[in-house]
Amino acid sequence: MLRATGLTKRFTEGRLDVTVLQGVDLQVHRGETLAIVGTSGSGKSTLLHLMGGLDAPTSGKVELKGEDLSSLSPARQGELRNQHLGFVYQFHHLPASGFCLSDSPPAARVQRARQRRHAAVDSAPAA
Ligand SMILES: Nc1ncnc2c1ncn2[C@@H]1O[C@H](COP(=O)(O)OP(=O)(O)OP(=O)(O)O)[C@@H](O)[C@H]1O
Ligand SMILES: [Mg+2]
Repeated sequence: MLRATGLTKRFTEGRLDVTVLQGVDLQVHRGETLAIVGTSGSGKSTLLHLMGGLDAPTSGKVELKGEDLSSLSPARQGELRNQHLGFVYQFHHLPASGFCLSDSPPAARVQRARQRRHAAVDSAPAA
């Protein structure tokens, strides 16, 4: 499960001070389909970046499979993303951006395909 608790994101830079998300609680279960809808600039991409561990919240936390992303090393965060999350970015030829939480995100499928290929090579009779 992917769970956000009290998620707040504030961008500050020079005179810029924008609080985009404030106290967002959200749970996404494996296999669940969820649409996040809002006007342009309302914070949809910001939320997805936080929930995917691509950016850190100002406060609050994101847990993926029970692990608080902010407490993990960048390497462990990357490992979890690699195994459990897949992103589809908002390119001009796609209607929307989003991510999925699944047992079989693209990176995990590539990894498994590699393992199968190595296993096949290992078990092939010597020529
Ligand atoms: N790195 C950043 N620094 C400063 N402000 C930012 C940053 N990223 C996003 N924002 C601001 O946060 C707000 C939300 O942006 P976000 O991209 O999350 O909106 P969105 O809902 O995904 O919009 P769209 O539908 O156009 O994709 C906007 O006002 C945006 O200008
Ligand atoms: Mg967006």
